[in-house]
Amino acid sequence: MQPVLNYLDANDKRFIGELCDYLRFPSISAQTAHHGDLRRCADWLVAHCRSIGLRARRNATTGQPVVTASTPRRKGRPHFLIYGHYDVQPPDPLDQWQTPPFEPAIRKGAIFARGATDNKGQHFAHLKAVEAYHKTGTELPCDLTFVIEGEEEVGSEALMGFLRRQKRTLACDAVVISDTGMPSKKHPALTYALRGVAALEVTVRGPKADLHSGIYGGSVDNPALVLSQMLAQLRDKRGRIAVPGFYDKVEPLTAHERRQFKRLPYSESGYKRLLGVPALYGEKGYTPVEQRSARPTLEINGLTSGYQGEGSKTIVPAEASAKITCRLVPGQSPREVIRLLKKRLRQLCPPTVRLRLEDGHGADPYLVSPTSPRAEAALGALRSAFGYEPVILREGGSIPIVTEFKKILGADSLLLGLALPDDNLHSPNEKFDLDCLRGGARMSAHLWPMLAAC
Ligand code: BES
Ligand code: ZN
Repeated sequence: MQPVLNYLDANDKRFIGELCDYLRFPSISAQTAHHGDLRRCADWLVAHCRSIGLRARRNATTGQPVVTASTPRRKGRPHFLIYGHYDVQPPDPLDQWQTPPFEPAIRKGAIFARGATDNKGQHFAHLKAVEAYHKTGTELPCDLTFVIEGEEEVGSEALMGFLRRQKRTLACDAVVISDTGMPSKKHPALTYALRGVAALEVTVRGPKADLHSGIYGGSVDNPALVLSQMLAQLRDKRGRIAVPGFYDKVEPLTAHERRQFKRLPYSESGYKRLLGVPALYGEKGYTPVEQRSARPTLEINGLTSGYQGEGSKTIVPAEASAKITCRLVPGQSPREVIRLLKKRLRQLCPPTVRLRLEDGHGADPYLVSPTSPRAEAALGALRSAFGYEPVILREGGSIPIVTEFKKILGADSLLLGLALPDDNLHSPNEKFDLDCLRGGARMSAHLWPMLAAC
């Protein structure tokens, strides 16, 4: 192990430079204009994997290419997958970035760029660990296959088909994923649950075109007001989602789990400061830690209607629309939640407008035991790499493919996230702390012998 760790230390500078190269690709999966960049990014990744001794290829799918890279397969050895995604979120709003999102910059011990933590930097740490094994001639006690996809941020649909087709080659003992967070550098974490997600776009249409609000206003309904009133009724005074049936299948938190949550580092003032809000808000009867990781929610992600330009424009807009997502917890399913939400919206919609409801992506919630032998091994690797006692936690974000790994390959996922709370995932000025890159690579190095021994 020591030569592997020494190699990681000795090559630190070069690793940072390579990660910057990877971060220069604007691989934004949500935007068609960037699909060429996704392909070029996948090609860079394939070449990089080959340069560190892996057998790598770019696999065509029904959507963005999936990059696979593996060590030689040997009979009788355990086989683990390492999952990651090379696609990133759109960088907007651009004017809020201190340095451009696709021109990586090093400041305050971190790399700033879109995708730095989510997720290029995190799976890059694993690539470097495997490189260190290879280049120091240290034998890996298990076989490894990287599966790095290009559409996690839009629902991972193509990867699901790919998993089904490649079920045999991807058969494995477990999946290792670094695409979640840790409370601080002193609290490395194993995540044992993720929320699911269900997306819906709501549009209400009134007149056939925007109308003069002086000439016609008062005699026709206003789609923006109608939609606002409908949306406002989706939440009650206690911060609960007012959609009949929404909570019916939610599995309640156990007293034991609630006690565990209380042990996580948390301060209300620090949390408020981190987010820049004057006061917190959430479902009554639950702590903020529970609200953001273990309770279901409904959020408006985008709201559009009428004139958005400079100055004013007196119109009754022809339509209004909202992008909505719900976060789901164990017991809930995206399909059922979307069905209930659509039913409620139809009830709330007055006859003065036409309603259009369009389903988006969905992902099931995930929950796995944090006390299995493999979970213990993962905790051991975190402890050795970061030098602090790791915590176990539930995360509020979603990784759609984890439940498919379970369904299609029968494999559990070990979620070993390297993102810090202030890393600005999906926000301007996303960053990846260099200590997390280093700790992540060391964690990966320690992990394989510990996992292979389970
Ligand atoms: N890395 C995140 C998920 C995440 C972040 C989980 C932090 C836990 C803690 C991932 O890239 C992500 O953003 N997923 C999307 C999935 C959605 C688009 C289907 C999400 O959660 O919004
Ligand atoms: Zn993300």
